[in-house]
Amino acid sequence: MQVHITTKMVRDLTCDALIVGAVCKKEGMGVSLTKTGNTINQLLNKLITDLSTDGEFKGSPGEILTIHTMGRLAAKRVIVVGLGEQAKVDLQSIQRASATAARRLQETGAHTIALAIDLENDRVSTEQSIQAQLEGALLGVYTFRTYQTAEKDLPGITHIQILTEEAHKAQAERVIEKATILAEATNVARDLINEPSSVLTPTELVQRAVTMAKYRGLAYEVFDREKIAELGMGGLLGVSQGSPQPPHFIVLHYRGAPENPQTMGLVGKGITFDTGGISLKPANRMDEMKGDMGGAAAVFGAMQAIASLKPHINVTALIPTCENMPSGSAYRPGDILRLLNGKTIEIINTDAEGRLILADALSYAVKQGLSPIIDVATLTGGILVTLGSVMTGLFCNNESLANDIIAAGSSVGEKYWPLPLDDAYQELIKSDIADIKQTGGPHASSVTAAKILEYFVDNTQWAHLDIAGTSYIESKKPYQEKGATGVGVRTLVELILHRAQNNGRHRSLELSGVGSLEA
Ligand code: BES
Ligand code: MN
Ligand code: ZN
Repeated sequence: MQVHITTKMVRDLTCDALIVGAVCKKEGMGVSLTKTGNTINQLLNKLITDLSTDGEFKGSPGEILTIHTMGRLAAKRVIVVGLGEQAKVDLQSIQRASATAARRLQETGAHTIALAIDLENDRVSTEQSIQAQLEGALLGVYTFRTYQTAEKDLPGITHIQILTEEAHKAQAERVIEKATILAEATNVARDLINEPSSVLTPTELVQRAVTMAKYRGLAYEVFDREKIAELGMGGLLGVSQGSPQPPHFIVLHYRGAPENPQTMGLVGKGITFDTGGISLKPANRMDEMKGDMGGAAAVFGAMQAIASLKPHINVTALIPTCENMPSGSAYRPGDILRLLNGKTIEIINTDAEGRLILADALSYAVKQGLSPIIDVATLTGGILVTLGSVMTGLFCNNESLANDIIAAGSSVGEKYWPLPLDDAYQELIKSDIADIKQTGGPHASSVTAAKILEYFVDNTQWAHLDIAGTSYIESKKPYQEKGATGVGVRTLVELILHRAQNNGRHRSLELSGVGSLEA
């Protein structure tokens, strides 16, 4: 894919399709166009406004109007895409509008497109709008066709131009590199998730992580079963023992601020297939459990992106990975496992495997002194009941970290909703025979799962993102392919970039004698 900035006049922009945005008018009649939209409308003898007055196009979110320009513009087609009500337009709506238009154009034979959804309002800067448009288009045209013999070689969209004014050109240049890296990393995560579990085994995930790390210049370590046992990771050992596929523990190191003693930790759940084990899952939609390494994929993608963006910060990623299978050697309900930090856990349901491998990884992160720690996991079916596929559940023991995650998410169109870690929930995971019980029963199951994780992070600043509802969509959307969404990648990267920038600010204040702002 080639991406360019252009400052040409709209009339002279050569491409298969030019994409512009429109918002609904308050009165519900007709649409308001952006500056570029108005110019095009003039060139087309007011066709767009006429069609919308007739009721053919209302500007509602994701709505599309296709106009063939018949030589009035250099562009063959103009696509007007609805953004919804002006007052509600945010980065997610711009991103989705761009994705919807790009997807539609890909399906209808366009190869070269131009983005000019140049909506500016007080909530959205030019830079943010360009990032949202470009990421939207790059995520929107994503497909997973590896196994479709006929379709895999279709050219699709090969060129994207972004229309900006001369005054914004420098900003635009800066943002396209970042947006391209972020979208690529997100699509890499989606590929990992969509890949069948017969291919993406724990060992294959290691291979891909090592290849990525070598290519991007990240240091890495991979622990095999022997080392995992030696370290005492009883959760990872226990969950993996029912499968002939050996478990692995992947560590990726990014050091962008070697003089800084602090290193942030990312932890991703890497269950390459979750059958439920002896507490077998029902057959219905079990195929989606190939995506139970969505957290690992998010962390993988984030590390890939920061290795390219090189922010001034240290980040270590931990990925415990294995399969959860039933067999004669599988772990059982009633078993008691001893985890890395020495604590014991009473197994109630072998389908609650994620918290076990995460408990080991979180303990390891604490032991390494990583802070803050952020884990990402397709952890509970309960989060789907609570938040559906609209928002990711956020559990956090530090308010400013929680706010930073929510803000990072909203800057890339991903939504996070805070949920409680109240100590009263601790009651539900008390065990009579071990230090804690693995599950807390049917009530508040996402919260009790998070409480188990909290048990292993002590007082370290920590956040847990339960992406079970947002990582995978069961049917396609106008703006998104069925399957993996790649949620988490861009939020983590934006959060890391933000923290890296603040580190820089704190340091320069220190140097200028203002004193340390670090707690
Ligand atoms: N991987 C599942 C959670 C999940 C469910 C992810 C649906 C994506 C879509 C997890 O390992 C699991 O099975 N959780 C159980 C825990 C229960 C047995 C305590 C759940 O939430 O039902
Ligand atoms: Mn499970
Ligand atoms: Zn699982």
